[in-house]
Amino acid sequence: MKVQIENGPAFEVAAGEDSLLRGALRAGFDFPYECSVGGCGGCRFDLLDGPMATLWEQAPGLSERDRRRGKRLACQSRPQGDCTIRVRPAGSEPSGLPAAQRLRATLLTRRAVTPDLSEFTFRLPADVAFRAGQYALLYPPGVEGARAYSFSDAPGEPGAPGLWRFMIRRVPGGRGSNALFDRVAPGDAIDLDGPYGHAWLRPGAAEAPRDVICIAGGSGLGPMRSVARGVLAEAGTRRVHFFLGLRTQAELGAAAEVAQLQAQAGGERLRLTTVLSNPTEGLAWEGVTGFVHTQVEAALTALGRPFDAYDHYFAGPPPMVEALQDLLMVRQRVPFAQIHFDRFV
Ligand SMILES: Cc1cc2nc3c(=O)[nH]c(=O)nc-3n(C[C@H](O)[C@H](O)[C@H](O)COP(=O)(O)OP(=O)(O)OC[C@H]3O[C@@H](n4cnc5c(N)ncnc54)[C@H](O)[C@@H]3O)c2cc1C
Ligand code: FES
Repeated sequence: MKVQIENGPAFEVAAGEDSLLRGALRAGFDFPYECSVGGCGGCRFDLLDGPMATLWEQAPGLSERDRRRGKRLACQSRPQGDCTIRVRPAGSEPSGLPAAQRLRATLLTRRAVTPDLSEFTFRLPADVAFRAGQYALLYPPGVEGARAYSFSDAPGEPGAPGLWRFMIRRVPGGRGSNALFDRVAPGDAIDLDGPYGHAWLRPGAAEAPRDVICIAGGSGLGPMRSVARGVLAEAGTRRVHFFLGLRTQAELGAAAEVAQLQAQAGGERLRLTTVLSNPTEGLAWEGVTGFVHTQVEAALTALGRPFDAYDHYFAGPPPMVEALQDLLMVRQRVPFAQIHFDRFV
């Protein structure tokens, strides 16, 4: 099917493609998007002409006002014939990777990191390149739609070709995450599609590369571990300041994952600050307490360098991400090119 962009190029979407967004990206059109799963509204467009099915009517990425104005989400729309749409290309920085692929992958192992967070390792039938900090879509069995999960490894690690790893949190009442924990056992196969996402690790400048700030809220550990591993695998001297926000001492297994990286890196290139928002009384905790974004502000201020002396990467729940956007973009005026993040909507 041919999709014509008003005042722009046209591209073909294969009949078996699952959504307009994925079809457009695979065809090489720089469609704007963020989450790929109907949550953020980043892929809004106007349908001018032609048949288009809506996959998820109630997707929260559209407000009531958007719906009244006839807006649609490309990640929740599927062309049913030739059509014309209005959307502006995103102007995204190209990752230089081939288009995302949808493949059947087999779960090799599931390893518990905390009581509700596990690392899932899948084997793909082919080695598909990704960048540290990107994500893939997983199709949990018996569940409508896909779910986004970030890579927790950096590409090119020993033993990694053909393996994709994710840190997945079991969300109370969540259909997709619970299906992955309860209905996918080692040896089972599900569909994976990727890589996607814009929060990938950029190479440091050749002269005077900036140190990297990684801020993870909860399961944001996965992509931030990926970014940190990517930096540490470089021959350069960039250091990582890793801020990890957890709720209670029960989740400290997540901090152990980063401490292990720190030990491998010799302790000098990675500094870890773990922050508990709600430490359990009566259990030992001598570290920092509060919200991780508040601690980032205090710690970077104490280091005495301007906030734009660093490249900033962060991932986690929307309130954390929005507080960091306010801190870095509005109050500290860090250039946008130095800020990369994913909201786990
Ligand atoms: C870019 C990105 C990266 C992420 N990385 C991670 C990660 O590394 N680890 C992690 O634990 N979590 C991650 N998440 C969160 C994860 O994608 C899920 O939102 C979370 O696991 C809850 O899913 P659930 O199915 O359990 O909950 P549910 O409440 O059942 O589903 C919530 C999610 O599913 C989508 N959804 C719900 N219904 C439909 C439908 N009918 N059709 C299509 N989509 C639907 C929603 O948009 C929302 O994203 C990430 C999210 C994003 C956007
Ligand atoms: S990319 Fe479609 S709603 Fe987020």
